[in-house]
Amino acid sequence: MATCDALNQQYKSYNEWEENTIETLKKAYPHVRLRRTAGQSTPIQRPVSLVNSNEYTDRQVSLNVSVRPTFIPLTFDSNAEMKILSQQTGPFTKENPFYATVLQNIELTGAHNNFDGSSTQQEQPQPVLGNESPRQRKRIPIPSAFAGTNDDEHHSVRLIVFDAPDLSHLPGDHVCILPENTVANVNGVIIACGWQTGNELLNKPCSLAGYTQNKYQTLRQILTNYVDLTTPLRPHVLNILATYATDSRQQREILELGKGAQRYTDWLINEPTVKETLEQFPSVQMDLGELIQLLPQLQPRYYSISSSSRFHPNQIHISFSVVSYVTPRGVVRKGVCTNYLQQTLPKLSENGQPIVTLWKREPSRVRLFISPNPHFRLPGQDILSSSLPLTKNAGGDAYLPLNCPLLMFAVGSGIAPFRAFWQELQVLERRLGSVQVERVLFMGCRTPNDFVYAMELRELTSKTSRHDKLFTAVIPVYSREKMGVKRYIQDAMLTYEDMIYSLLNQENAFIYMCGSVRSCQGIESALASIVQSCNEYDLTLTQANNIIKQYKEDGRIKQDMFG
Ligand SMILES: Cc1cc2nc3c(=O)[nH]c(=O)nc-3n(C[C@H](O)[C@H](O)[C@H](O)COP(=O)(O)OP(=O)(O)OC[C@H]3O[C@@H](n4cnc5c(N)ncnc54)[C@H](O)[C@@H]3O)c2cc1C
Ligand SMILES: NC(=O)c1ccc[n+]([C@@H]2O[C@H](COP(=O)([O-])OP(=O)(O)OC[C@H]3O[C@@H](n4cnc5c(N)ncnc54)[C@H](OP(=O)(O)O)[C@@H]3O)[C@@H](O)[C@H]2O)c1
Repeated sequence: MATCDALNQQYKSYNEWEENTIETLKKAYPHVRLRRTAGQSTPIQRPVSLVNSNEYTDRQVSLNVSVRPTFIPLTFDSNAEMKILSQQTGPFTKENPFYATVLQNIELTGAHNNFDGSSTQQEQPQPVLGNESPRQRKRIPIPSAFAGTNDDEHHSVRLIVFDAPDLSHLPGDHVCILPENTVANVNGVIIACGWQTGNELLNKPCSLAGYTQNKYQTLRQILTNYVDLTTPLRPHVLNILATYATDSRQQREILELGKGAQRYTDWLINEPTVKETLEQFPSVQMDLGELIQLLPQLQPRYYSISSSSRFHPNQIHISFSVVSYVTPRGVVRKGVCTNYLQQTLPKLSENGQPIVTLWKREPSRVRLFISPNPHFRLPGQDILSSSLPLTKNAGGDAYLPLNCPLLMFAVGSGIAPFRAFWQELQVLERRLGSVQVERVLFMGCRTPNDFVYAMELRELTSKTSRHDKLFTAVIPVYSREKMGVKRYIQDAMLTYEDMIYSLLNQENAFIYMCGSVRSCQGIESALASIVQSCNEYDLTLTQANNIIKQYKEDGRIKQDMFG
């Protein structure tokens, strides 16, 4: 925006604005041809509201700039040097990610996870607080959104350990991972665009590198790392695609989808990838470079860090559920990032021995950066900066995480941040001495096989002296153990309502929940229901909900939701 003074060199100001605007657009779209057609200055009628105002416009000039993507020369510069990432310097961000070596890549589900040794003992932990006895109450209705969507046999939850000496973080923080598209998807797009010239050409540095701010030098790198090849094309992109169709029937069909109406919604059911869309409409003759510029950027995925940097210095652990599902029309779809991570080659085997492959492959390096998450930190740590070295003097009250009673709810892969919590608490206990407070963890998962980290938790609850235990109780809740009976965390909460109410009301516990949005909503409703039924006053559900809302606003209830 610029202001022109009608009495003082109005057109000089205008011309300067126009020049700056064009320059800005050129920088923002280096590969887009800008066509400027400035219209004639035309008088316009002053609006009634501005008749007596000093602020008015009385002439209008329209500037038309064509920003339709034009041909991007895919010339290859064989002399260009490949950027080698020898030295990594922070701060690490989406634009400047850290390349972390994968140390270990481990399957976490399996028979070894049985927490109690016997599946029939679920929900029967040691007595938690003094005088509570589990009470049976009517069940809260449970939405069954995810019920049966995933195949138990193929459900996989994995732990990846990264070597990340240059990154500081606190329990509760996230790590953002920049995934890679599969070779099959990348090759599929290349071939569908008519590029069958082989890897040699595609692997040479190309002039499109400028488009990615020189982060990726070759076409193959750009397709692998920079653009989203799995999200179905949006209607406006389909409309551009239609202009390249040489077959009129296909063109009509694409334009129909481009209306974004019912046909588009039907088409979306199978979630077609870019490759599949190009294969569906083979008459679309589009240059690969032009296509790349129409695609959205591949976005980083967030993961709760599953380790404490005091417990595992120089490492970052993540625990993730591998996303794989079948569309209503029977097509198998796989999550981009979780399947990419699953395939990464670690440096060390599960038991810590170096892995030697016949073809001498280097361990994988994954691009990542930290996203601090002060809203889901241990009590007293929310104000600490994860970029500061973790010392006793870093600020906050070092004892607070140990002194506060904790009530934690983990659903499925939502166990991830709690592992960082219990590792941190272990280190703090070792340094500062143990404190006897209530720490209760509810874990909701499908079957005992899915109770990942059960062994670690068993260790932390099985000490002989009550004083030595990090957790006073760990309560597993299995949803698919008994045929036809779904049991969610919300049900178990009602069984333990007196204990939960006591932690909330008398012990001033901090409450944490992590998992899918629906499960956290369910847990929150169950908390409100417990407040209503255990409170000494005759509260309405709205009043109980308001109490929960207040706890959330005060930071006593903390949520980290995904999915
Ligand atoms: C703050 C935050 C923290 C997170 N922490 C963790 C964590 O610790 N561990 C973890 O595993 N994940 C975590 N996630 C989720 C993670 O970021 C990714 O979204 C997840 O791993 C999927 O990524 P992907 O690339 O594999 O899948 P994508 O390629 O992004 O595909 C995911 C898409 O698949 C669809 N989908 C998934 N399952 C089904 C289904 N059954 N039926 C139909 N459609 C389905 C969903 O619509 C979703 O849009 C977190 C997310 C956030 C926002
Ligand atoms: N961002 C993402 O897109 C993302 C990331 C991770 C996971 N996911 C998806 O989210 C789902 C959860 O994945 P996961 O592997 O972590 O966990 P999961 O094993 O699928 O689910 C964990 C537990 O939560 C239960 N559950 C389902 N709905 C619930 C509800 N409303 N309230 C309370 N508990 C509920 C499940 O029961 P039942 O299944 O037996 O009903 C199961 O026992 C999967 O479908 C996965 O594909 C998505």
